[in-house]
Amino acid sequence: MPKPRVFVTRHLPGDALDQLADKAEIAVWRNALPPGRDELVQEVARSDGVLTLLSDRIDDELLDRATRLLVVSNMATGFDNIDVVAASRRIVLVTRTPGVLSATTAEYTIALMFAAARRVVEGDRLVRSGEWKTWGPEVLLGRDLSGAMLGIIGMGGIGREVARRARALGMRVVYFSRNRKPGLERRHRMSFLRLDELLRESDFVSLHAPLTSETRHIIDDETLALMKSTAILVNTARGPLVDQGALYRALSLGRIAGAALDVTDPEPLEPNDPLLGLPNVIVTPHIASASVATRSRMGRLAVENLLEALAGRVPKHAVNRDIVRPWRERVRKSGVAILGDMIERQPD
Ligand code: GLV
Repeated sequence: MPKPRVFVTRHLPGDALDQLADKAEIAVWRNALPPGRDELVQEVARSDGVLTLLSDRIDDELLDRATRLLVVSNMATGFDNIDVVAASRRIVLVTRTPGVLSATTAEYTIALMFAAARRVVEGDRLVRSGEWKTWGPEVLLGRDLSGAMLGIIGMGGIGREVARRARALGMRVVYFSRNRKPGLERRHRMSFLRLDELLRESDFVSLHAPLTSETRHIIDDETLALMKSTAILVNTARGPLVDQGALYRALSLGRIAGAALDVTDPEPLEPNDPLLGLPNVIVTPHIASASVATRSRMGRLAVENLLEALAGRVPKHAVNRDIVRPWRERVRKSGVAILGDMIERQPD
């Protein structure tokens, strides 16, 4: 009996694909660049499951063609690349990979804070340009993290790991999020502030909120105007949380001191994007979760979610749990079922 067919939109690190290949017939997109729109639509249309990355747009039109599709397993904690409402309408389960990347992403966030505050990238550029002549008491003076106030926007798994590390570095921490987290406030000795208060008080502002219609451009002209002129903005979450035109204005006019962005809108930025012309901006290529161990863990979890779903079980990290009942029924009718340890697809 044929196994369920799964399309994987890029080669993954670690052994995740071997696990998947044991149980499913897999087609892997092996190019360095993501599949084009047509290829993605065609491949997904032929599949029972798809393992996607945040660079794959899964929208209404694509889902409309994917009549066989039961599950979209996104190898990311964020899932703004997927139209979850459209997926739910078609009784397609969406899953994600939270948790396993929180510590790694938090480490990178702290790395960007240090890099921007201590001018690491500017220093490297100075040496390479041959313009650095001698040690100087006033060369590239930066700011300390220790004693500074960090404002965290979004207190999910990554936000709390950033808070923990910041406290260990002697920073003071405040946060803003949809819901207050009194347990975390006590554990990390941090306080909740309104967004405007947080922006006024913080020396560093770090974004850790998901991208939704409420958080899009949460940093814009108005909110940037509240920040200290010495403040540094760090974004390791999603590019569109920041209105980049507004950020450019704030940075070039000295309204804030610097920014370190691992995510931008779009990704990548055009080479002539004005932000890239500013010395007080660091931009990296969306690598906050990119450690060897973490990317392997993300791959394994994405595969586990996918296989769980193809076995008719609701994975722990399902996003649209509200469709579970009709989804179970759909899986049953689809003929994708577990036989012993094997997941098999009944012949059409
Ligand atoms: C990465 O950006 C993720 O959402 O996992």
